[in-house]
Amino acid sequence: MKIKTNKNPKDLKCDVLAINMFEDGKTSQELANKYALEEDNFKGKFKESYLLQTYDKISARKILVIGMGKKEDLTPDKVREIGAKITNKVKSIKAKSVSIDFENIEEYKGALAEGVLIGNYKFDKYKSDKKDSEEEIEISIDISEDTLKRAELTISAMETARNMANEPAAVMTPTKLAEIAQNLNLNTKVYSGYEIEEMNMGAFYAVSKGSSEDPKFIHITYSPKNAKKKIAIIGKGITFDSGGLNIKPASSMLTMRDDMSAAACVLGVMGKLKELNAEVEVHGIIAACENMPGCSAYKQGDVLTARNGKTIEVDNTDAEGRLTLADALCYACELEVDEVIDLATLTGACMVALGTQAAGIFGNDQDLIDRLIKSADEAGERYWQLPMYKEYGDGLKSEMADMKNSGGRWGGASSAAIFLQNFVKDGQKWAHIDIAGTAFLDSAQKYYTKGATGAGVRALINYILK
Ligand code: BES
Ligand code: MN
Ligand code: ZN
Repeated sequence: MKIKTNKNPKDLKCDVLAINMFEDGKTSQELANKYALEEDNFKGKFKESYLLQTYDKISARKILVIGMGKKEDLTPDKVREIGAKITNKVKSIKAKSVSIDFENIEEYKGALAEGVLIGNYKFDKYKSDKKDSEEEIEISIDISEDTLKRAELTISAMETARNMANEPAAVMTPTKLAEIAQNLNLNTKVYSGYEIEEMNMGAFYAVSKGSSEDPKFIHITYSPKNAKKKIAIIGKGITFDSGGLNIKPASSMLTMRDDMSAAACVLGVMGKLKELNAEVEVHGIIAACENMPGCSAYKQGDVLTARNGKTIEVDNTDAEGRLTLADALCYACELEVDEVIDLATLTGACMVALGTQAAGIFGNDQDLIDRLIKSADEAGERYWQLPMYKEYGDGLKSEMADMKNSGGRWGGASSAAIFLQNFVKDGQKWAHIDIAGTAFLDSAQKYYTKGATGAGVRALINYILK
C-alpha cells in the first residue's frame, strides 16, 4: 500500500473514490449528498458505508460513501477506524487505485492516513494460500507531506512490533531480538550469558536458566546532537513464558509468545527515531530470555540478588517478568536519564481489571503519568492509572530475603508495580505501563486484526516527539 499526496483526489482517474458524509447531513460535499440521498437507507451513521457504480459519469469507477456519524462526536480514533474500514472495503473489491476526498476533517488527516495504513496489516507469511494479491494499492489523499510522513513512520514502527510479537517463539528468540537490535543502525550493546551474571543481574539471569536459549541484555542508544532531554524505555522481553517450574495450564500458555510485545514495541520505536528527527536522547533497554522449566531452571525458594543488591525470594517462577525488569530498571537508573518508562505484559490481573481496552499505568511522578496518558490518548491508545498504595506491598514481605516476587492474588497489577519500585533509584522519575491486556487480541477488534496490536508504539512515539 502506498499513500500519495494529491491536492485534488476527486478528479483522479481511479477505481474507487471514497467520500464522507456526516449523520447530520451538514456535509457540503455535493457528491455525497447527491448519491447518498439516492440510497434511502443511508443516513451517514458512523462506519456505515455504501458503494455505487459511476458508469463513467466521473473519473472514478466507483464511489464509496462512508458515514461519519455526528460531527460533534468525531474523534481522531474514530477517524482511524474509518480509515481502516476504507482499506478493508477497497481490498474486498480488489480496487488498486483509490482516491479519498473527505470534507470537514482537516485536523484528522493524520489519523485518517494512520487508519488506512493500520487497516492494511496482516500476518500471513506462513500461509501458502495468501488472501491478498501482491499488487500494491495506491491511495491518494490531500494531506501535507509532513503529516503523511509521520503517519507512515508511526504505523511502520507499529507493524514491525506486531510482526515480531506474532512470530512463533521458536523464531523470535532472545538471540533474534538482539540481532534485530544490532541491525537498527544505532549504537547497540548486547550482553549474553555469563556477562549478564557478571553484571550482577542475578534476578534476570535466574529466569533465563531453565532454557537452552542464551539470554541477551540489549541496550540501544539514540543520541541526537540537539537532544533536549534524556529518557530510557524498557520493554519486557520474555520470548516465551511457559511459567517455568510453576508451569502454566495449556490455555494460558497458548499465546505466551506475546510476552515480548513490550520489547517489540521498544525495537519498533527505536528504529524510527532518526527518521522522525526526535530531539530526545532515548535509551532502549531489553532483558530478553525465555522462561522455561528446563533442568537448570530457577526454583521456588531460591534467593536471587538483583543488580542493586536487593535480595528476592522466588515465590512463583511465573512472576518472571518483574525479575527481568528489576535488573533492567537498576541499569536504566544508572544512565542518569530524566525519565525511565517501562512497558510489560506483566500481569493477568491487569488484564482482568481493564480488559483489552486499556493498559494500566503506574509511577512515582504524577506529571509524567499524566503526560503519558495524554500522549497515548491522542495516538489512539488508552492508559488508565491504577493505584500504588503501599499496603499492596504487604504480600511481598519475605522472612528469608528483602522481598518475595509475588504476593497474594488480589490487586496483582498493583503489587507487581510496588515490586518494581524497589529497583527504581530514589529521585528517579519512573512510569510503568502494564500492557498484558492490550498487546495481543484473541479476536479482531476496532482496527486491529487478531494477534499482536503493537501496543505502546504510537503512544511512545507521540510522547517522544512532544
Ligand atoms: N506474562 C504473564 C502475564 C500475562 C498474562 C500476560 C496474560 C499476558 C496475558 C506474567 O509473566 C505472569 O505469568 N504473571 C502472573 C503473575 C503471578 C504468578 C503473580 C499472573 O499474572 O498470573
Ligand atoms: Mn509469567
Ligand atoms: Zn510473563
